[in-house]
Amino acid sequence: MTPEEVVALRKAHFFPCTQHFYRNPPVLVSGSMQHVTDGEGRVYTDFFAGVSVVATGHCNPAIAEATVRQARRLQHTTTIYLTEPSALLAERLAKLLPAYPRVFFCNSGSEANEGALVLARRHTKRRGFISLTESLHGRTSLTTSVTGLSMWRTDPFPDDHVYFIPRPYEFGLDPQEAAERSLSALEDVLNEAGDNIAAMIVEPIQGNGGMIVMPDGYLARAKTLLERYGVLLIADEIQTGFGRTGQLLASRQLGVQPDIVTMAKALGGGIPIGAFAATEEVAASLNVPSASTFGGNPVSAATALAVLDYIEAERLPERAERLGTALKRGLERMRAYYPHLLSEVRGLGLMLGAELYAGDPARGAAVTDRVLEEMKDRGFLIGKNGVSRNVLAFQPPIVIEPGDIEAMLEALDAVLGGIEQERLKEEEAAEGAKTPTPADDVSAGGSGPAGKEPFLSQEAANGGRPE
Ligand SMILES: Cc1ncc(COP(=O)(O)O)c(C=O)c1O
Repeated sequence: MTPEEVVALRKAHFFPCTQHFYRNPPVLVSGSMQHVTDGEGRVYTDFFAGVSVVATGHCNPAIAEATVRQARRLQHTTTIYLTEPSALLAERLAKLLPAYPRVFFCNSGSEANEGALVLARRHTKRRGFISLTESLHGRTSLTTSVTGLSMWRTDPFPDDHVYFIPRPYEFGLDPQEAAERSLSALEDVLNEAGDNIAAMIVEPIQGNGGMIVMPDGYLARAKTLLERYGVLLIADEIQTGFGRTGQLLASRQLGVQPDIVTMAKALGGGIPIGAFAATEEVAASLNVPSASTFGGNPVSAATALAVLDYIEAERLPERAERLGTALKRGLERMRAYYPHLLSEVRGLGLMLGAELYAGDPARGAAVTDRVLEEMKDRGFLIGKNGVSRNVLAFQPPIVIEPGDIEAMLEALDAVLGGIEQERLKEEEAAEGAKTPTPADDVSAGGSGPAGKEPFLSQEAANGGRPE
């Protein structure tokens, strides 16, 4: 099918909320590790991994083989009947995450968060929740209610027992100051309504919110405050989980042990699965019958076991940290070279974001779309997120190679270089002056004249390249 035919069918039959990336979108028909191929045979290096899902690569043969083997053997029974894969997966997760010996399997991130929120209500016998502004936790009714990003709050009648506190981030503000502001708001809410609050839910790195890493010490201090009021901490590890940030859980990496953790995306490597896991004490409160028809399905559980085998065997967390450091360094250097375009680079491991035009988010959003389109035409799929949709998102399969990173940076440099040339021409036309000023000097590293060399050729001239 042509892209036009697919778009026409989607327009005719999907709900109008459904969107797609790109003015000229390709139809993706196959995948292999860090690559996907479209219907016309064009190959793209994927730097978005289907929003953090295929961390272990597209159609990874070791994992696909386990999926197919199980699909041929036994596909579905429900947890009413005994099967091996879900029991083995529960045991495996408990070994990998010993603080959370009990798990409930479901099918998506939203469902995992919904379950965690209900568990917190059952455990504390309280109704309220605390959440951060600009967070995203899902599409079910409760998870929409604790979602701070307005564009994802689809339910017009959200649960009104949710207290939003400012996230510990503001562009240009010192992270520790932002953390203090958020913690002080947390303390106020706890003072006012702590007795009615079951849990605080937090993404250790806000993904859709624009790759905002919780600052040093923030989560641990929040946990101490919450404990004072008997309020649980839920870490939404749906985007961060299973190695992308450099460890299996980003919450652990950021120095906190939440009471409940939620997982999905990368755990299934492309096969739908969700789960929430809790401490023995908290899990004991989910003691009335509850079941998910597909949760712990043999095919998804067998796949998740193969995903975990692969993550361990290939030491993907270490790889994410190493390659993420290289990618971040490259993006940082590019930010220094295009300071008008790139405002900030953020993130951990291979969960990175680069914000465009933070001071003019509408322009940033338009430029972000242009960068995505041109990068796609050059063979690279990158994502976007952020409150104003002006943050380039880099969350590639962790199996990506250093050479892919270099090639992507080279393409990004060419795209940003083209945009910068136009900006400078516009600036010149507006000023009506064509004579270069000292501030236009390329070697100054700031915005140069219209003839400014792209970043990487400048790097090469300096005898170095972004690693
Ligand atoms: C942090 C976070 N939580 C929850 C969700 C919802 O997950 P799902 O789309 O699998 O329901 C998402 C989805 O992107 C997410 O990023």
